Amino acid sequence: MSGKNLIYIIGFMGSGKSTAGRKLAASMGWPFIDLDRKIEEVALKTIPRIFSEDGEEHFRKIESEVLRKLDNTKKTVVSTGGGTPCHGDNMDFMLQTGVTVYLKMTPGQLAKRLLDSSGERPLLKNVPDESLPGFIEEKLAHREKWYSKAEIIVDGLSLNIELLGSIVNSM
Ligand code: S3P
Repeated sequence: MSGKNLIYIIGFMGSGKSTAGRKLAASMGWPFIDLDRKIEEVALKTIPRIFSEDGEEHFRKIESEVLRKLDNTKKTVVSTGGGTPCHGDNMDFMLQTGVTVYLKMTPGQLAKRLLDSSGERPLLKNVPDESLPGFIEEKLAHREKWYSKAEIIVDGLSLNIELLGSIVNSM
C-alpha cells in the first residue's frame, strides 16, 4: 500500500464511517481508531460537552492535534469526524500521510439516517426535523470540495468491504 500505513475513512455525519472503518480493519487484520473517541479520551469529556462548554473552535483545535498525533508507523484504519477534512489543512495532511476513502451518500439518504440521531450531534441538535434535509444539503454541498479530494470514493450504501480492502491494498 504505497508505503502508507493509515487508511482514513471520511464522509458526512451519519454515513457509517465508524462501522465501515471497524469492518475494514477487521477484514484486513489491522487495528481500528475512531478519531471522535480518541478526542474524547484526550479532552476527558464527550464531544457534546466539548462543543457546549468550550465551543466548536476549541473542538477543531483538539481534532487537528489528535489527528496529527496518530501513530503513522503502524498499519491502522482511522474513522474521522464528518468535519475533520474540512478544517485547517487536515485534508491535505491526510492525503500526505495515508490513503483516504470517502463514503459518499446523497443528502436524502443522510437525512433519513440522521433523523433518529440528530439530537446527539452538536451541529444538528438545534436543527428542527423539518429543516434537516435542507441543512444537510447545504452543508454537504459546502463540504464536498474537501471530501471529493479523497483518493477512493465509494457509495456508502452499497459498500463492499472485501472489495474496498483489495482496492486499498493495491494502491
Ligand atoms: C462533526 C461530526 C461528528 C463529530 C462532531 C463534528 C462534523 O462526527 O466529529 O460532532 O463537523 O460533521 P460524526 O461524523 O462521526 O458524527
